[in-house]
Amino acid sequence: MADQPTKQKLWGGRFTGKTDPLMHAFNQSLKYDQRMHAVDIRGSIAYAKALTLVGILTQEEQTKITDGLTTVGQEWEKGVFIVKEDDEDIHTANERRLSELIGPLGGKLHTGRSRNDQVATDMRLWLLGEVKDVESNLKGLIRVMVERADKEVDILMPGYTHLQRGQPIRWSHLLLSHALSFHNDLERLQQLIPRISVLPLGSGALAGNPFAVDRDFLAKELGFISVAENSMWGVGDRDFIVEFLMWSSLTMTHMSRLAEDLIIYSTSEFGFVTLSDAYSTGSSIMPQKKNPDSLELLRGKSGRLFGNMAGFLMTLKGLPSTYNKDLQEDKEPLFDTVDNISACLKIAEGVVATMNVHGEKMLQALTMDVLATDLADYLVRKGVPFRETHHVSGRAVALAESRKCQLNELTLQDFQTLNGKFANDVHDIFDFEASVERRSAIGGPSRKMILRQISFLRTGLAN
Ligand code: ARG
Repeated sequence: MADQPTKQKLWGGRFTGKTDPLMHAFNQSLKYDQRMHAVDIRGSIAYAKALTLVGILTQEEQTKITDGLTTVGQEWEKGVFIVKEDDEDIHTANERRLSELIGPLGGKLHTGRSRNDQVATDMRLWLLGEVKDVESNLKGLIRVMVERADKEVDILMPGYTHLQRGQPIRWSHLLLSHALSFHNDLERLQQLIPRISVLPLGSGALAGNPFAVDRDFLAKELGFISVAENSMWGVGDRDFIVEFLMWSSLTMTHMSRLAEDLIIYSTSEFGFVTLSDAYSTGSSIMPQKKNPDSLELLRGKSGRLFGNMAGFLMTLKGLPSTYNKDLQEDKEPLFDTVDNISACLKIAEGVVATMNVHGEKMLQALTMDVLATDLADYLVRKGVPFRETHHVSGRAVALAESRKCQLNELTLQDFQTLNGKFANDVHDIFDFEASVERRSAIGGPSRKMILRQISFLRTGLAN
């Protein structure tokens, strides 16, 4: 409490005045940073070992400290840790409790350490653990997309540009186009790990550790890939958080585009897909409605996660070197982003796994005009330059439109008035499956190329 003597605070020595109650609450991060309790304890246990190796602690002292820290950790696990008014953050809370349990010896643990290198270490350790979960959720989503694409490879639909019917494709091709974005996200996430896995502990407040603690030992103990090469950078760097927030923003951009496609396809006007009841909700006034709320939330959350990234970049910009309290503002956006991206990935996986795909509706939407490019390509194969064939095919479309008929209902004579190279086989063009199969270059929607994409994505999932 503010009216308690400030000497009760862990840093209270140089203070004579009391903290304003509002300031006390304003400064306190424990309500949200307590979720790092386990990594904070892990870091402290490793640090006690490092202090023992350089003779600051005896073996016996190290054992007492480690046992004490283990008890503190168990109290958090069991939900019986009692927070005191003066516990400013998870680091001070754990140290205060340790000293209650083992006495003044607890005060030796912080030798040569600062909350500055401690918090940076905790954040990195915590994020490394979360990245593993996010990675497995992302793989789960990619996997259901790939499985669906494999099973539903026969389904044909119009592919769109500008939301106008363009050319026939396989439904799998569309699904895999989204899966490929997520595959790239998976690669990018994996590439973040070496930059998160850098040990700050042993950087002290800013100018390094005066007791020659073995930082390579600490890195090994805590599973870090490398050691921060500059102590000032070690305490002040939060780029690993920015990168994760950027990664999440881009991944959510992909999620949002997938959601948008499925929202459009689930309208009665399209009717290509129906979401399962498990991921839809009703309207409180219009009884007939089944709303794609899951997809709308996925689309909506992308804005929120982008905001977390933009907000934290604003916090970082213009900070002087090393640690400044502004950096405490890294936690809420990061925690919120981790929570939401994990939820989004799981929901998206569920939506994709359970939706119904209406192949017959997709087929109905395939009107003959989407074969106009194929008609132009027909003449190309007869030696006519594409610019000319494009024009001829356009005129054929216009003719069919004026006759209020489909492109394939034009007669051979009709075609021949447009270009003499048209022959009997022109009507073979009007076959959607054949059109899709003709697009057999790498990356196309032919069956063989769909299977190639599937195997490419499966290889990515195995890494
Ligand atoms: N709660 C602080 C944070 O999250 C810990 C570091 C405090 N360091 C300091 N010098 N006040 O950033």
